[in-house]
Amino acid sequence: MRLGVLVSGRGSNLEAVLRAEFEVAIVISNRPGVRALEAAAAHRVRWVVLQVSDFADASARDAAIGEALSSAGVDLALLAGYDRLLRPSYFSAFGGRTINIHPSLLPAHGGAGMVGLAVHRSVLDADDVETGVTIHEVSADLDGGRIIAQSGVPVRPGDDAETLAARVLRAEHRLLVATLTSIARERPEGTPRASICGRGSAPAAPECTQ
Ligand code: GAR
Repeated sequence: MRLGVLVSGRGSNLEAVLRAEFEVAIVISNRPGVRALEAAAAHRVRWVVLQVSDFADASARDAAIGEALSSAGVDLALLAGYDRLLRPSYFSAFGGRTINIHPSLLPAHGGAGMVGLAVHRSVLDADDVETGVTIHEVSADLDGGRIIAQSGVPVRPGDDAETLAARVLRAEHRLLVATLTSIARERPEGTPRASICGRGSAPAAPECTQ
């Protein structure tokens, strides 16, 4: 399974994927100089910056992202802290599967503007007692693609957005590695297997405890 990872910033989810030794064929950032690119370079992974200012418009840039993934032979694209909506031109240029990791239990606290700390502020403003992580298929509908896996995380009294983000981030890294492991094991002719870690009454998949 050859991965392509789209990033915009810190890159801790990318690092979790690299540490777990998945094959990352290319890292693509929409912003120059971000920490995620240092992580890619440290692991000797090819990286490229495709920023909208270098293209006619965002649609042309997104087509270039899709083309870069296709020419790198990527099977599965992962949005790991990628902070922009992908236009239809992306999906025309890249025919593989694209998944996203989101730091809440979608459909709660998803949609426009729900990126990074804004998500955790929204959870705290809503007085939720549980939040979590969602990994889902990416479609043209923002945060609306089929859910592949979720993991719950408690909201603790006294949490602020930063403490909550740090707790959720640890769960993100675990769920991401578990889900990629699960996807890599799928039979080619099989349908995607949902791996639900730590939610509801469903028994946890073995990967969730690793
Ligand atoms: C992560 O919390 C990720 O779930 C979130 O941005 C952070 C990126 O951290 N993504 C979104 O909010 C997407 N809607 P990272 O760069 O350290 O992986």
